Amino acid sequence: MSAKTTKIFYLDDLTIPFSASDKTVLEAVLKQGEFLEYSCGGNGTCGTCLVELLPGQAALAPASGEIDFRQERPLKDSERLACQMPCQEQLRLRRP
Ligand code: FES
Repeated sequence: MSAKTTKIFYLDDLTIPFSASDKTVLEAVLKQGEFLEYSCGGNGTCGTCLVELLPGQAALAPASGEIDFRQERPLKDSERLACQMPCQEQLRLRRP
């Protein structure tokens, strides 16, 4: 029997657990029953799932699925699409 370690990240004042099956921040947040807008169904085209990295975190490059969106609509360095962003342990995010 192997022990599963629960990993977490933070969204506003929420603690969001995730596992390897949660491919994106959006998936993990929705799985917790928390609200995060996502108009295009997680396709990386609408920008409604925008989250912001809180200051003081290590640099985190935009996910590859976000690159096309950024060419059409420039984002701040701290902004990410939750539907394209992989979950990462101890990430600290806020909803704008
Ligand atoms: S849900 Fe549309 S860009 Fe993320």
